[in-house]
Amino acid sequence: MKLNQLLPTVAVAALLLTSTVGLAKRKHTVKIQNGLLWMDTEGRSVQAHGGNIIRHNGRWWLIGEDRSSSWNPDVNLYSSKDLQTWKFEGKVLENGVTHPELGRTRMIERPKLMYNKTTRKFVIWCHWEAKDYSASEAGVFESDAITGPYKTVWTGRPLDTKSRDCNIFQDIDGTAYFISTTDENTNLGLFKLSPDYHQAVSKTLLQEGQRREAPAIVNIDGLYYMISSACTGWDPNQAKLTTSRSLESGWTPLENIGDRIAFDTQASSILTIQGTQGTTYIYVGDRWMDPDLPNSKIIMLPIEFENGKMVLRWRESWTLDLKRGTWSD
Ligand code: DGJ
Repeated sequence: MKLNQLLPTVAVAALLLTSTVGLAKRKHTVKIQNGLLWMDTEGRSVQAHGGNIIRHNGRWWLIGEDRSSSWNPDVNLYSSKDLQTWKFEGKVLENGVTHPELGRTRMIERPKLMYNKTTRKFVIWCHWEAKDYSASEAGVFESDAITGPYKTVWTGRPLDTKSRDCNIFQDIDGTAYFISTTDENTNLGLFKLSPDYHQAVSKTLLQEGQRREAPAIVNIDGLYYMISSACTGWDPNQAKLTTSRSLESGWTPLENIGDRIAFDTQASSILTIQGTQGTTYIYVGDRWMDPDLPNSKIIMLPIEFENGKMVLRWRESWTLDLKRGTWSD
């Protein structure tokens, strides 16, 4: 083949290569923009507040409160391949539909989703509450498929403890914990769960008398970090950090992290992005827009470490490399 015959072929090949590389790059590098309402693939606002994100089958799954209309949110599920394009997967718990008492005598806050590798089931733990917060209960639901249907496992006070604002924590060995604000917002209760994640089997009080809520825990190389807020309703306040080598004891005194009002957020979870070059830990927080709760925003900030200390800084936007597990401004 003569050179002038070869040239168009080379040009097309080069073009294809460039666009494939471009595409691959686009696919795993995402720009996180904070402060805006997330929109789903159907053009509706993403309603998944107070929830968490888990990885399953090559996608991220976001569960959370649908605050679009009432005091008693349904629980929505979304999926995404890049943490940016969110597809609505349905209402996994729905007022009056999936559970008759839901929307009448009970409401759900802070639904958290876990996968149990042993039972191969998806389990939701949440705050299961009366309109005036007098019930102080938790709810547990389970399904064979991530998208449902979720059946009630149990609702009530874990180990007879009044329990409100909550989160879950799954350790690297698969042991799971429910952690909630107990005893009329006085303490944090760390409840170790049974291997099937159906019930609390033991309780340890943490941050006694310190009136903390919205706890979010991550284990980084054997050191547990917990970020939590004070109890000020929907209003933001100073987030505090504590660390320990053990979940049950040895937590350091609370110290400030982030700015005075946690950048106008309250923690919902800490997301771990493990990649080929590193791991990025993401603080995921709710910017509650009370009294306009449907307009609440989900904020994501990369967690930094300086001299061994966890640091949170405001970023209007930042870039995450999902494949490498790294981030940059
Ligand atoms: C703060 C909690 O973190 C939220 O989940 C919600 O319960 C509000 N309080 C209600 O005021």
